[in-house]
Amino acid sequence: MTPQRARLLARLGLAPLWRLRQPADDGAEGEGDVEPAQAPAVVTGSTGALLLPANERAEPDQPALPARQDAGGADWEALELEIRGCAACPLHRQRTQAVPGIGDRHPSWLVVGEGPGAEEDRRGEPFVGPAGQLLDAMLAAVGLSRREGVFIANAVKCRPPGNRTPEADEIASCFPYLRRQVRLLAPRLIVAVGRPAAQALLDQPVRIADARGRVFEFEGIPVIVTYHPAYLLRNPQDKGKAWEDLCRARAMTHPPAGASH
Ligand code: URA
Repeated sequence: MTPQRARLLARLGLAPLWRLRQPADDGAEGEGDVEPAQAPAVVTGSTGALLLPANERAEPDQPALPARQDAGGADWEALELEIRGCAACPLHRQRTQAVPGIGDRHPSWLVVGEGPGAEEDRRGEPFVGPAGQLLDAMLAAVGLSRREGVFIANAVKCRPPGNRTPEADEIASCFPYLRRQVRLLAPRLIVAVGRPAAQALLDQPVRIADARGRVFEFEGIPVIVTYHPAYLLRNPQDKGKAWEDLCRARAMTHPPAGASH
């Protein structure tokens, strides 16, 4: 592990978790690399769940795996304009501005959160408060950032008043924007952080503790589910689990050179 990574893990309060035991034949304990040696062919969780059936919300007239459009061009600008002007649900009434999303428009990962908070509503960018700082630190620890490799969006684009959880009908009316973002970005993996994001994408009730470690699918793109960084700030004992999830995700999209699939 590089000193820089060790510092990052220490900042996340994770370092002691990754003191890996050496193989039984020498019985020694030492510090190992935190990343799995190679991407698992099939990811299984504590419940032993395997790849789940594809989400079936693709409209009948849409191809299941649409060809990638020009993610830097007119389609993207048009989508952002629509989001900024959206009045489809009551959330638009109290927003300062809509928060479409930010990041690499040719990402490996799309991270989907819940909805903008007060700071995000003010600045027009997702995950810029304390939860965002933790998210950035976790992404950095797996070599990714909102500048390179990751796009960050939310299940709802306007702040729910008082930072309440978005209602199901608010998530549903915003969902077409998220789906269009997914189609434009064509990420290799979607990371849903927290229950509202996971439920929006998977269209089924989700319990994070049960869904972790399983690989779901949205329009042919693998989806993994992990804890929301705001939850992790309140429950730091679960940071190690989220870190495990991100390492597993990283191994899926960035298998080490020479790893077979
Ligand atoms: N929490 C979220 O889910 N999204 C944000 O953009 C900020 C906090």
